[in-house]
Amino acid sequence: MPIRAFLFDLDGVIVDTAIYHYQAWKRLANELGFDISEEFNEKLKGVSRTDSLDLILAHGNLSLPDEEKTSLASQKNQWYLDLVSRMTPEDVLPGVASFFAQVRKTTRSEGPLLTGLGSVSKNAPLILERIGLADLFDVIIDGNKISKGKPDPEVFTKGAAELGVNPDECVVFEDAVAGVEAGKRGGMFVVGLGSPDVLTQADLVAPSLEQLTVDQVFDQFELK
Ligand code: BG6
Ligand code: MG
Repeated sequence: MPIRAFLFDLDGVIVDTAIYHYQAWKRLANELGFDISEEFNEKLKGVSRTDSLDLILAHGNLSLPDEEKTSLASQKNQWYLDLVSRMTPEDVLPGVASFFAQVRKTTRSEGPLLTGLGSVSKNAPLILERIGLADLFDVIIDGNKISKGKPDPEVFTKGAAELGVNPDECVVFEDAVAGVEAGKRGGMFVVGLGSPDVLTQADLVAPSLEQLTVDQVFDQFELK
């Protein structure tokens, strides 16, 4: 089976917005009278805004009516957007440019290696614009185009379908436990970016794209 496409998560893979999500959620939890740790935050990575809020409220033993939840989610998003609005192309994570340069140079008999974005963030288009990478991907699937967030595989299976490739011809790049699970449930080879102790379901783990080459991905995929 050849590799036909690379599907990338956005937050924590292409750009370090994961820290801004954490800061905004922490501020919200603090205003509600409790705290969240970095360890708890791992559960929020890759998870949609509404699902994240539900996890946080359960963590603080709070049960709130839907209208209040809508207003809290929108407050968090406003704080998050305040942080994101200061981002520039310099906030692209180290290694991204060099990894994409390798991707562009990769040509095989099956044709060029295709690329897609698979993010559950509704803010993905805005972030891509801010960091100057709106034209980087062949297809973009974001939170505005899906009905189920990670760990459901929809965001990646939709990306594969839009690129016209099969799931087992795709490699997913993910920093989140929920995202790794989404890729595996979608039938894809998954590269975890982070710690192997956290991303236990991934087929291959590297600290970030900076410590990874396209050749390493191809070699491990063929061993599977
Ligand atoms: C994911 C992040 O990419 O997007 C999550 O890892 C976030 O932390 C989710 O909750 C939804 O993002 P947004 O921007 O629509 O609130
Ligand atoms: Mg992520």
